[in-house]
Amino acid sequence: MKGSWVLRCAIAATLALSCTADAADGGNVPERDWLLGSGPLGFRGPWGTTYAPNLRLTASTMTEAEWVKYAKTLKTRPPMPWFNVNAMTEADSRAMYRFIGSLGAVGRPAQAYVPPDKQPNPPYIQWPAPPKSQ
Ligand code: HEM
Repeated sequence: MKGSWVLRCAIAATLALSCTADAADGGNVPERDWLLGSGPLGFRGPWGTTYAPNLRLTASTMTEAEWVKYAKTLKTRPPMPWFNVNAMTEADSRAMYRFIGSLGAVGRPAQAYVPPDKQPNPPYIQWPAPPKSQ
């Protein structure tokens, strides 16, 4: 399915950042384990600490038409590349929704966002402060 290919590109990026055993697995994570979220792993920076959500659960709460609209207007905190999701064609967005649906709505929801002044539990990836402008 085409949605599978579109997601493969994004998942490669996610796994590269994830510092889990999966990241060392050369991209061989089976589809049944895709999109379950970053689990306990947080992404910490000036925005606080975010957790990649379980998209299989997210998509299961929407119709295809709702997903298309949601993907077009989505805006989140970092490091989610939401602008790339906004840029998807409607056809790709529909293909992605159908592919996600085919995986089944299993797994747990993501952990709650932690604000910048609160210490998250490990594990988390700490983003460096942006360089000062010259
Ligand atoms: C095809 C690629 C991707 C899609 C379709 C996607 C979709 C989404 C959606 C729909 C949300 C909103 C939360 C929800 O509705 O449950 C979200 C949040 C998030 N995504 Fe992605 N994502 C993609 C790739 C990535 C990548 C590559 C990363 C990591 C580098 C990432 C990290 C995150 C994080 C941390 C959040 C939570 C942001 C917050 O708490 O504000 N996502 N993503």
